[in-house]
Amino acid sequence: MAAAGSGAKAGHENWSSRSAFVLAAVGSAVGLGNMWRFPAEAGENGGGAFVLFYIFCVMLIGLPVLLSEVLIGRHGQSSAPESVRRVARDSNTSTGWSIIGSLGVFAAFLILSFYCVVGGWVLYYIGVFASDIVQTGITSGAFAGRDPGDIEGLLPSLFGDGGLMVGLNLGFLALTMFFVARGVSSGIEWVAVYLMPLFFALFLAITIYGSFTGNFSEAVAYLFTFDASKLTGEVMLAAVGQAFFSLSLGVAGMITYGSYANRDTNLGHTSGIIAGADTAVALIAGLAIFPIVFAAGLSASAGPGLMFQSLPISFQAMPFGSLIGFAFFVMVFFAALTSSVSLLEAPTAFVKDAIGMPRMVATLVVGLGAAILGVLSSLSFNEMAEFYPLNFIPLFAETNFFDTLDGVTAKLFMPIGAILTCIFVGWFADARLIDDENGLDGVLHQTWRALVRFVCPVVLTVILAYGLLS
Ligand code: PHE
Repeated sequence: MAAAGSGAKAGHENWSSRSAFVLAAVGSAVGLGNMWRFPAEAGENGGGAFVLFYIFCVMLIGLPVLLSEVLIGRHGQSSAPESVRRVARDSNTSTGWSIIGSLGVFAAFLILSFYCVVGGWVLYYIGVFASDIVQTGITSGAFAGRDPGDIEGLLPSLFGDGGLMVGLNLGFLALTMFFVARGVSSGIEWVAVYLMPLFFALFLAITIYGSFTGNFSEAVAYLFTFDASKLTGEVMLAAVGQAFFSLSLGVAGMITYGSYANRDTNLGHTSGIIAGADTAVALIAGLAIFPIVFAAGLSASAGPGLMFQSLPISFQAMPFGSLIGFAFFVMVFFAALTSSVSLLEAPTAFVKDAIGMPRMVATLVVGLGAAILGVLSSLSFNEMAEFYPLNFIPLFAETNFFDTLDGVTAKLFMPIGAILTCIFVGWFADARLIDDENGLDGVLHQTWRALVRFVCPVVLTVILAYGLLS
């Protein structure tokens, strides 16, 4: 692989301002992980114990790793593997550490492929609500006269249609490719700067509305009651995986975004904002979805279907239900797009810098690969439902292609990437270089350093071993 060389620094793209970086990074973090994966994982892993352990993971592991990743990127000023290599070189240590970036880029590519499948479901629901508006007008509730079972059945009937699944998946991927091909400031940044504020406005409106309806107190009790007996190794690994997935960690995405950050951005403070915003959105999404789940008598452990099945039922009872449903899925679409853009950007930046391809061609190459894997994921809900690629590993037994990619990335790639990042930043990278980048002083700096050197690698290794062996 050809090194990009120090000349890449000069030609390397940049965010146009600090707030553009914050919005793009929050845009990467906030996505289907918060609205769709978090409630599904919380429900499948028993609620409170999972949620509280997840918050613990975000603060003590996610946040320190996030800062480590963006600072590697900003110092390296290149794609993820090359950025790690540069930090290693400037610290007089082995450039073999660039494996962190290479593994991450590969994992981002895998996630992108199945993320766009779920993005396709979002497009489908936008269409469903749009046609409902046309049929019933905007003032009545959604799906007038249809019974809840029917509405719940929309998702399984989509799953049964392989052709439609593939079409929607490729449509979402194509949109993602369009913005990445346009580049950092006129494509990626544009999506974040316009769509993230819109997302927050819509999200707030829908949550306030939702908190007046549904079974709010039962949802609060379910999500925040800690029952230590439910905290098994598997639940802990799922919670760490969710924290990483939600914060976009362990997969080179934040290294890549950090590389576009300017010198005057305080990375410590910015990381705090990103983690805070991301966690708030996940918790609020839980508080918006579970009241409805309980009020409608649905199962909390419905998994991936939760967001797509419970919310449309609740929109039926609301005045302006079809309009609210439409607005909700448009909002999820915005959040998902700003995340998928970051998933595509990490491998694209790598192909662009390492092989020297123009951005446009690099986007096409990576996009084509993601399309092939995406088709397999789309078909794992129908034609290939019985295909279990890693059946011989107990953790992934009887797990279809889509769920295998999700599980392998969140439960293996992300924690392993994070462990290596912490060891590298905490023990091998030059301390002065790190101090110069991280923007923290005094107690905060000491705490962060102790977390990165000791707490994160040890806790993560224990959870990983415990989760895999239990
Ligand atoms: N954090 C994104 C979400 O929650 C997903 C993502 C993972 C994006 C990894 C980039 C890298 O939807």
